[in-house]
Amino acid sequence: MSSGQGGPTPTHVAIIMDGNGRWAQMRGLPRQEGHRRGLEALRRTVRNASDLGIGVLTLYSFSTENWRRPQAEVSFLMGLLRHFVEKDLAELSAANVQVRIIGSRQDLAPDLRRLVEHAEARTRGNTGLILAIAFNYGARDEIVRAARALAADAAAGRVEPRAIDEAALSARLDTHDLPDPELVIRTSGETRISNFLLWQAAYAEFVFTPVMWPDFDRAAFEDALAQYRQRERRFGGLSTPPGRSVGVA
Ligand code: FPP
Repeated sequence: MSSGQGGPTPTHVAIIMDGNGRWAQMRGLPRQEGHRRGLEALRRTVRNASDLGIGVLTLYSFSTENWRRPQAEVSFLMGLLRHFVEKDLAELSAANVQVRIIGSRQDLAPDLRRLVEHAEARTRGNTGLILAIAFNYGARDEIVRAARALAADAAAGRVEPRAIDEAALSARLDTHDLPDPELVIRTSGETRISNFLLWQAAYAEFVFTPVMWPDFDRAAFEDALAQYRQRERRFGGLSTPPGRSVGVA
């Protein structure tokens, strides 16, 4: 996709939304206020992504490790997802956004699971931005679930073990029908991947910004895209020699 600003716009942007707690702490506010403002930043970012011509936006909202947080904070984050889906679904659908939830649904409360399924079903036919909310998501967990599905297929004779390749594993990931992210952004100055899209981000560019997630705005988003456009993506190959083109960019 071309941006008209001197480089391509990534099709798939994935974001590790970090720093809600510190944002609140710096202002003497409870952590929950940081998460509440984080939800506002999430809404803003969805609108900006649509606007900027991005095809897929994946947001890390709750990791498989986040269960270790105090029970009250876990419940609050579950409530925020519930609130978001209930309150924003009509608007998202009207904006032609297709909602997906990636991650393990097993441990979610039955009503939350139903809500999520309803949101996906209602927006399935939408053709605009694909919004993938990673909730109760961990990349290792996702890969283990895919490996388990492959093993079951092999045990049932549906798959020949020797025929298992990268495509076979990719096809069993939660993101099976999505392109890999070209750009992963992490806010708050932390420079870790934290079990996010480990398989899919194999060739992604990373942008780390000191901006705390509640402050992530259009300018911060555009700045990350501008950094991405300056990078040279070689996928293990060589740079394109001047005046020549290569098959794999
Ligand atoms: C990281 O900040 C953020 C999270 C663990 C949750 C992300 C949640 C939102 C952006 C709100 C919207 C949520 C949903 C479910 C739609 P942190 O708490 O780790 O911040 P810290 O590192 O400063 O403590």
